[in-house]
Amino acid sequence: MDLPLRDSRQSSPLPDSPSAGPRSINLSISERQCICASWEKASNQSDIGCELVARLLNDNRTRFRALLECKSGGYLGSGNYTTEDVNGMKRARSVADGVNCFFNKVISKLMDTNYIDEIQDLSLQLGAMHFRMKVWFQAENWLCVKNCLLDSVISALLKDTKGTYVICGGIKKVQTVEKHTTHAWFKFVQFIIQNMKKDFWLKLSTLILILNQRQNVDLRVLQPVTTVSKISEIAGFSIDKIIKTLISYSSAFLLFSAFS
Ligand code: HEM
Repeated sequence: MDLPLRDSRQSSPLPDSPSAGPRSINLSISERQCICASWEKASNQSDIGCELVARLLNDNRTRFRALLECKSGGYLGSGNYTTEDVNGMKRARSVADGVNCFFNKVISKLMDTNYIDEIQDLSLQLGAMHFRMKVWFQAENWLCVKNCLLDSVISALLKDTKGTYVICGGIKKVQTVEKHTTHAWFKFVQFIIQNMKKDFWLKLSTLILILNQRQNVDLRVLQPVTTVSKISEIAGFSIDKIIKTLISYSSAFLLFSAFS
């Protein structure tokens, strides 16, 4: 079993903690329209979730393949994975479906008036889901997922054969995706990741805090003055929220301590 605590001992002591980055998504209406239209176009051309999973399996910089290996119980090895291979692997295929479903959902919120809150909530939930799946995040992982995702969307858009223009009497296929589109996607994915990280980091740091107190697990000893306030400062959550998380994770502590 790949436990976050063990993993942390082997590599960095903490995942890259969220910096106090912008909490709001700075997308104009035209950028949002552009994301909606390009997602529709890209997902008509390709199975984006499947493309993303194949790219991540082939990327040696992330721990994605190793993590998936742990969960599926089989050795995946390093190979050149294709989308057909992903379709043939039960867990990989279901992650691909989950990715498609997540993006269908967040993109369907983009034109709502309170889209920022809605997308933020969905992203926080996804971060929490990764925490529950015991997926460990490091800076490298985030960067690769972001790049592979953008790459999957852009490649799908480039497959669109409708982008042909008549230039000087001849037909020319324009093999570029507008900078406006890539920039909008970059900001969008950045926002999702920032919020996934926030929830993940909050829960993880809370667990580390509890584990550090393993000699005395009584939550009443954790006064919100020192370490709790530090978490609050770094993660940008209120002390109240941290205390609530501490309490809800006190049972998770028992489970984790059984493995460590
Ligand atoms: C934009 C960022 C990300 C999105 C949208 C995303 C989305 C998802 C979704 C929807 C699932 C499937 C959940 C389910 O089973 O229903 C999943 C699983 C998974 N994700 Fe992510 N993810 C992201 C970032 C990452 C990162 C940075 C990593 C680290 C390498 C990662 C590793 C994994 C792994 C290993 C699983 C499978 C876990 C298991 O089988 O239990 N993800 N992800």
